[in-house]
Amino acid sequence: MADRYLEADTPELRARWGTFAWTDDNAAKAKDIVARYPDGRQKSAVMPLLDLAQRQVGAETQTQGWLPIPVMEYVAAYLDMPIIRVVEVATFYTMYNLAPVGRFHVQVCGTTPCMLRGSDDIIAACKARGMAKGHTTEDGLWTLTEVECMGNCATAPMVQINDGNYEDLTPDRLNAVLDALAAGETPKEGTQEPGRHTSEPSGGPTTLCEMVDANHDYRSEW
Ligand code: FES
Repeated sequence: MADRYLEADTPELRARWGTFAWTDDNAAKAKDIVARYPDGRQKSAVMPLLDLAQRQVGAETQTQGWLPIPVMEYVAAYLDMPIIRVVEVATFYTMYNLAPVGRFHVQVCGTTPCMLRGSDDIIAACKARGMAKGHTTEDGLWTLTEVECMGNCATAPMVQINDGNYEDLTPDRLNAVLDALAAGETPKEGTQEPGRHTSEPSGGPTTLCEMVDANHDYRSEW
């Protein structure tokens, strides 16, 4: 896990983000999100609202987005909750970026199944392109973070890049994905294993291989 720290609360940060407010579009989305929760439970909307705020910052900075302190204060005021409660949520979940990130946030899973399937080689391939854990490349394109299990162990090793998961990776397959993203293309998400569709057994199914021609009705046997 990369170090996580809150970006310093400086006059420059205040000058840039102190006037943060929802765009018209996001104001409507925020209202819809809050309305999903029962009366008196509106503070439960803090997680989707932090995500919305991070995406708005991302759209304004052409990056994956992050949460400056003044933006978290805006969300806290919007939900009428203490800022510390918002910071507690933002610092607990790694889906929230606490410092600026690049256009693409490359989150490499390094937990045991991915490690056994070659995540060290994936991290090495990232480093070979100039990435360093916890840092953004000088061109602003890539931020590299090592994360814990992302729930794709059956198609390990994997990385999450912004909202997409790329699985069954090798260094070559990862480089193809990164090249496509850098070129403004939209590479296929999910497994990169040829012939594999999702997380079915690699090489084809081993059970339920054939469709039945009729359903057996067991109800009379109960
Ligand atoms: Fe990497 Fe589960 S260990 S996705």
